[in-house]
Amino acid sequence: PKTVFSGIQPTGIPHLGNYLGALKNWVELQNSASADDTLIYSVVGLHAFTIPPGDPDSLRQSKLDAAASLIAIGIDPARCILFHQDEVPEHAELAWILNCLTPVGRLRRMTTWKAKLATVKNATSLDDVDETDLSLGLFAYPVLQAADVLLYKATHVPVGEDQLQHIELMRDIASTFNGRYSPPKTPFFPVPEAVAPSATKRIRALRDPEHKMSKSSPSANSRILLTDSPESITSKIRSAVTDSTRHLTYEPETRPGVANLMDILSACTGETIDDVVRRMDGKGHSDLKAATAEAVIAMWQKPREEFERVRSDEEELRRVMWGGAERAREIASRTLAETKRLIGLA
Ligand code: TYM
Repeated sequence: PKTVFSGIQPTGIPHLGNYLGALKNWVELQNSASADDTLIYSVVGLHAFTIPPGDPDSLRQSKLDAAASLIAIGIDPARCILFHQDEVPEHAELAWILNCLTPVGRLRRMTTWKAKLATVKNATSLDDVDETDLSLGLFAYPVLQAADVLLYKATHVPVGEDQLQHIELMRDIASTFNGRYSPPKTPFFPVPEAVAPSATKRIRALRDPEHKMSKSSPSANSRILLTDSPESITSKIRSAVTDSTRHLTYEPETRPGVANLMDILSACTGETIDDVVRRMDGKGHSDLKAATAEAVIAMWQKPREEFERVRSDEEELRRVMWGGAERAREIASRTLAETKRLIGLA
């Protein structure tokens, strides 16, 4: 049996990159799960706080937005354990233990904290990022992520491409722990595997296709949010940066803007890239944009309506999430107790 774990930060309404890179897979894993598989999905507030938003109220709202978005796209709290990470304190406690097993040199090689600091500081190059400004929490972010997954002894972790370095680290941490503390021949933590979508691992920013679509990219027109209206989706895609070559070809290296639209179109409709290229043969950029906008609008029409419905009943939403936290805690507290026994702290 599989145990699937994944998380999303409550840093705003999820965008198309989150959805096509990861969340869509969460739903597919749920819908294809067998009865003895366990699915655990978390809104990771402690991770969002690694870059503390100034306003506590907006963080509280973002947590509810993220939870409602997951239910809206089809995550079913009756079939999955859906919960807020910050309502299960075991995450922070296991993270501390794993911090003590993780060399600083290993974390220094991660590009994710550099990229985050660079965006916050508006630095143009990762080399300009100054460690003096780095919080201990942001530095240890990937270790907390390892704790998230290992607490549930998860075997599969559906994520987008930008998270693969974090999966590598959690695999290393699991192996290190097993090597030092597991009873012989019975590894305590399964070494988790990433589950990445076959084609669209990485969706690019519409206005800046050199970079990934991200919650923090400077232009809001670069990302499409789950709650965007059809008009807004159409206008964002219409203003996507492409190139001046007339006919349409799929060349991600040299034509990232066009390839990104083709990736989005194929992921939304389920067509292969070859299908898309064939369908667009002899057509122009505006046809590709129109087809892509139409596909995104159709894919998200129901989730958008669902979001409004789920989000409007905050009391029910909190109740559902609290129920998830209780179920998560049952597993998490057992793993943490076993871990402490193995290392000599209990
Ligand atoms: P977060 O909240 O940044 O993003 C959630 C998921 O969306 C994927 N993603 C993308 N995929 C393709 N193209 C893009 N442009 C794009 N942007 C985002 C991310 O890869 C991610 O899968 N560290 C995680 C949260 C986390 C987590 C975990 C994940 C915390 N603990 C444990 C898995 C297991 C993150 O920053 O996600």
